[in-house]
Amino acid sequence: MTLEAESTAPLTRDFGVPRHVAIIMDGNGRWAERQGLPRLAGHRAGTENIRRVLKESHDAGIEYLTLYAFSTENWGRPDDEVSGIIEILGSVIGEEVVALHKQNVRIRHLGVLGRLPADLAKAIVQAVEVTKGNTGLNLCIAFDYGGRAEIVDAVRRLIAAGTAPDEIDEAAISASLYLADVPEPDLIIRTAGEQRISNFLIWQAAYSEYYSTDICWPDFDATEVQRAIDEYGQRQRRFGRLPTEGAQAPEVS
Ligand code: IPE
Ligand code: IPE
Ligand code: MG
Repeated sequence: MTLEAESTAPLTRDFGVPRHVAIIMDGNGRWAERQGLPRLAGHRAGTENIRRVLKESHDAGIEYLTLYAFSTENWGRPDDEVSGIIEILGSVIGEEVVALHKQNVRIRHLGVLGRLPADLAKAIVQAVEVTKGNTGLNLCIAFDYGGRAEIVDAVRRLIAAGTAPDEIDEAAISASLYLADVPEPDLIIRTAGEQRISNFLIWQAAYSEYYSTDICWPDFDATEVQRAIDEYGQRQRRFGRLPTEGAQAPEVS
């Protein structure tokens, strides 16, 4: 990547609707606790909510929707919560893949599969495989995902391929991430009020816009999706440059 290449990046799109929205789906536990329900009821309600957010995202013209479902750090939660979340993912895959396939949704996974139960890992691989030719919305599920681990994995992959140190640049690392073909997120939404990234897409989020809402994930409905998109439409992205009409994201990779 050269400065020259950056400054002559083509004008390809405006910033009206984010092409890639990534969501930190937080607040399932608090949502449940506020209603006197066990935390797993919150995770179930949160999973149910994905359907309506997916529909609204599709209707709004979003091309990539990445959902943070389970972090590398979430293994540190009590065993019954971890196994409950894993069980919920297993049943959702069983119930939803056929419908998603019919809707032309392409399912992607980012993270590592090796620590998951073998049958769940297999179901994820199959869901990705079955839908890989679909041309509709890309639904990227971050499960057992950590941004730091992703960067470490990318560097290891480059070294294993014999890449020379001076060839390990930003473009090379970007090209070695879990889903290298997916554009960087334009908008990162975090529900439930925290103002932190919690190891989500830390490489890709360098110039993403952030949107935080106090609403817990199970209550984040179509209206809230639209509110976030509308706010994105008011933002001015500068990518370190001076504001000019039609400023565009530099070509990173
Ligand atoms: C997000 O909800 C889901 C996961 C992290 C798996 P939380 O379970 O973190 O909910 P809170 O933050 O405790 O309310
Ligand atoms: C981030 O939420 C992870 C997911 C939403 C999957 P956490 O609840 O794990 O994040 P912290 O612990 O509040 O930073
Ligand atoms: Mg949380």
